[in-house]
Amino acid sequence: MTDKQPLLKVRDLCTYFYTEEGIVYALDDVSFDVARGQTLGIVGESGSGKSVTALSIMRLVQSPPGRIVSGTVELLGEDILKKSRKEMKQIRGGKIGMIFQEPMTSLNPVYTVGNQIMESILLHSDCNRKQAKERAIEMLRLVGIPLPEKRFGEYPHQLSGGMRQRVMIAIALSCNPQLLICDEPTTALDVTIQAQILELINDLKQQTGASVIMITHDLGVISRVADEVMVMYAGKAMEYGAARDVFTQPRHPYTAALLKSIPNLEEDVERLHVIEGMVPSLSKRPQGCLFHPRCKQAMTVCQEKRPALTTAPDGRRVRCFLHSDAVEKEAAHG
Ligand SMILES: Nc1ncnc2c1ncn2[C@@H]1O[C@H](COP(=O)(O)OP(=O)(O)OP(=O)(O)O)[C@@H](O)[C@H]1O
Ligand SMILES: [Mg+2]
Repeated sequence: MTDKQPLLKVRDLCTYFYTEEGIVYALDDVSFDVARGQTLGIVGESGSGKSVTALSIMRLVQSPPGRIVSGTVELLGEDILKKSRKEMKQIRGGKIGMIFQEPMTSLNPVYTVGNQIMESILLHSDCNRKQAKERAIEMLRLVGIPLPEKRFGEYPHQLSGGMRQRVMIAIALSCNPQLLICDEPTTALDVTIQAQILELINDLKQQTGASVIMITHDLGVISRVADEVMVMYAGKAMEYGAARDVFTQPRHPYTAALLKSIPNLEEDVERLHVIEGMVPSLSKRPQGCLFHPRCKQAMTVCQEKRPALTTAPDGRRVRCFLHSDAVEKEAAHG
């Protein structure tokens, strides 16, 4: 977290789902900054709260059962949680662009890709239709789609997965967003296309000066693109700091375990390390540190008390009793 004026400043964000099985603490007191022109990587196993983080920022959490219970999300100093629905519609696809995992579900099958880019431009700018069309074709070219004039008139099903993802990026970038949120943007793609899309996002970031939140369970992706990284587990930030430091010297046992689980091409697949145990149910969380049932280094205190996220003198934030004795304030919930 930097002290310089960040583009996005999220503080103490709590998003819960009120289900029949109980309250799901999907995001519990999460704070982070995204500096201008920087990429924050958010990483963690399935169910750790990565997508709910993105959806909370966009105010797209399914409600009911979900609700942003507390916290602030400041974009350039303004709390977007206080904006009206109408204002939020302008922010989404305007100041904040978003790319989801599966472009086929986010693109509308009955409209041409050109129309969908144009629609977003018309909604968020003063362009007339002719200008919007020119801009849409320019965006298709910018994201590396060959023959953009021809592709403009095609439907999503006529494009490959990689091309559809490029169209999603074109839509997200067509209004010059200051923040681009990418939720698993390459998971559905093969490795070569994945590398191309990541390179494209990086290039566009350099050209436009936008900030990026890159969400993925793939640490390899994060290590290629992120300046800072937040490691999430069970709705909480476990470790947070400069990406290269966190990756070379992880402090939280969970981060260390995640790093060990990256497939190493030189090693046998059989030797691939998996983190034993399961992610806890977020409606029936264990007492103490949420990771302690799976932690090889767990101590007695870890079973009894919740560690707080503490900041080391070098700026690294870690939620672990091995690195501090800070106990999280007793909250009303379990
Ligand atoms: N609509 C919903 N109703 C109830 N619980 C939900 C809902 N959406 C998300 N959750 C819960 O919130 C928690 C966090 O989910 P989230 O989708 O953010 O995980 P994730 O880190 O993005 O995982 P993945 O890597 O699988 O995408 C999960 O326990 C999930 O079951
Ligand atoms: Mg997700």
